[in-house]
Amino acid sequence: MFFLAFEGLDGSGKSSLMAQLQNYLESKNRKYIKTREPGGTIVGDQLRNIILSKSEEAPTPRTELLLYEASRSQHVDLVIRPALERKEWVLCDRFSASSIAFQAGGRQISLEQVHWLNDFATNSLKPHLNILLDLTVEESQKRRQKRGEAEDRIESEAAAFHQRVREGFLQQAARVPNEWLVLDAGESPEVLFQKMMDELVKVRKWLD
Ligand SMILES: Nc1ncnc2c1ncn2[C@@H]1O[C@H](COP(=O)(O)OP(=O)(O)OP(=O)(O)O)[C@@H](O)[C@H]1O
Ligand SMILES: [Mg+2]
Repeated sequence: MFFLAFEGLDGSGKSSLMAQLQNYLESKNRKYIKTREPGGTIVGDQLRNIILSKSEEAPTPRTELLLYEASRSQHVDLVIRPALERKEWVLCDRFSASSIAFQAGGRQISLEQVHWLNDFATNSLKPHLNILLDLTVEESQKRRQKRGEAEDRIESEAAAFHQRVREGFLQQAARVPNEWLVLDAGESPEVLFQKMMDELVKVRKWLD
């Protein structure tokens, strides 16, 4: 059982790395769930739509934070804790660290307030490991453009916003290094997967 959160800027390779781990877990017949934030539940997916869609009225920064946290508490209660109780792996695309990076870093809400809300929403549940795919803002934008999908409301923010988000991730990892694996997302998918697996084996000796 391993609860992993995949973090980083949009287009940093979270989905690609999660897919590689998913293949590995399937090859080893290990039980796992793959899920994402915001979303992961019916209520969460409705909140995701409110958070990410571009409508004539955007949530203000405090409202936005509360919507993310509402999605998170539903996700923890209905999906993540039950999976951990069943001793399954949990691969989660973004978790509490994204609120610190985007809402404290990007939106400049106080760190203490975001921490408190994260703790409330998760009932103090933390991933065993946060995996940060660190990428420059320029490269993140290039990769997203190459993919050619329409930008959501958060992706449409200015480069300075995304720069603060990137720094928000790096600062968290620097504060509690034992809770983080920081990877250079510019490396190849094969190297990233190998580095992640090496770290997982180090953290959990029984991992084959
Ligand atoms: N290590 C890598 N090196 C180069 N390109 C990569 C790497 N990993 C993923 N990519 C490419 O970058 C793009 C974004 O990757 P991916 O969708 O995995 O990122 P993501 O973090 O899940 O993005 P999003 O936050 O938008 O869901 C894709 O086109 C993917 O093929
Ligand atoms: Mg993705």
